[in-house]
Amino acid sequence: MSGHPKATYRIATIEGDGIGPEVTRSAMAVLAGACGAGRLDFVMVPGGVGHYQASGEVLPKDTLKACRELDATLHGAAGLPGVTYPDGTEVGNELHLQLRFKLDLYANVRPIKLLKGVRSPLRDFDAAGGRSIDYVIVRENTEGLYASRGAGVLLRGEFASDSLVVTRKGTSRVARFAFDLAEKRGGALRDGRRRMTVCDKANILRSYAFFRSICDEVHGEFPDVEIDYAYADAITVHLLKRPDFYDVIVAENMFGDIISDLGAATVGGMGISPSGEIGDAHGLFQGAHGSAPDIAGQDLASPVAAILSGVMMLRWLADRHGDAALGEDASRIERAVETVLEAGAFVPTDLGGKARCSEMTQAILGALA
Ligand code: IPM
Ligand code: MN
Repeated sequence: MSGHPKATYRIATIEGDGIGPEVTRSAMAVLAGACGAGRLDFVMVPGGVGHYQASGEVLPKDTLKACRELDATLHGAAGLPGVTYPDGTEVGNELHLQLRFKLDLYANVRPIKLLKGVRSPLRDFDAAGGRSIDYVIVRENTEGLYASRGAGVLLRGEFASDSLVVTRKGTSRVARFAFDLAEKRGGALRDGRRRMTVCDKANILRSYAFFRSICDEVHGEFPDVEIDYAYADAITVHLLKRPDFYDVIVAENMFGDIISDLGAATVGGMGISPSGEIGDAHGLFQGAHGSAPDIAGQDLASPVAAILSGVMMLRWLADRHGDAALGEDASRIERAVETVLEAGAFVPTDLGGKARCSEMTQAILGALA
């Protein structure tokens, strides 16, 4: 905890592209509805491909300044397919990656939790049936293979390479974050053991063996958390066969990107999966989905991932500022989301229902009241 409760928290809000605006506005309505007037001041700032096409800038300086100076950042989604740089990489992703690197958001926290009322595609795992899924992937978010973004080698149209960067500083801080999270949670569903699983390919590459060795070193600071190891290929099997064994998983950037989508798919998909990208000084919160341009502007997107990311934001602010009331508001929103999903009267389209973005928003606001 670093600060004191504030009367008002100022949130840099980047709606972005595609479904970004509609899910962001839904989250803003639910957050404001739960926290009460005046508690949250959403400062709308531009960014993303739409802004790039109009201005040439994907992340305006003033937007970065707002993200640096305000209390937290709430983001919808960014990116439009086909809008790429000359090297073939997508412009939209630049917004996100620049924010991660410049705000040093080194822990990308992806909770994988099967909510009541949601059916997992995994046979045997269904909250109604008693066996559930509840673990957190902590993805290192500033280096790994992503360190090479925009810096890879392209030679004569014949050769390309990107470097995998693993540093002691980057690994120890994300490992410490993951162990600390495991210490605070109640342990894995399967056996109640506080467990932190290191996901890597230490058997093949020195950089991953180095990653694992740093996690081993940091483990010494957390005697009441069990350390566990899983190779990145093997864990894709385990996450489907025995997800309840997992509590907290730490992974290098690219592996974390991949296994977190697999995990999300086992608990209902990208439309229900939140994320919080946390550094020592800043936090950025957004649904794990993309901009889904094919359904943009049709009131079809599910706002649940954005709303649950707002819950993560409130809890992060509550912890940083010792603001218990904000933490209670976060829990009320989470309960309202589960109440709506469990009642089944409003099911978002990505979960097989017909409920529109606006209808889900109103239903959750109704459950809050
Ligand atoms: C994610 C996304 C991002 C990534 C893109 C939008 C830059 O896939 O947050 O998982 O590749 O990390
Ligand atoms: Mn991804």
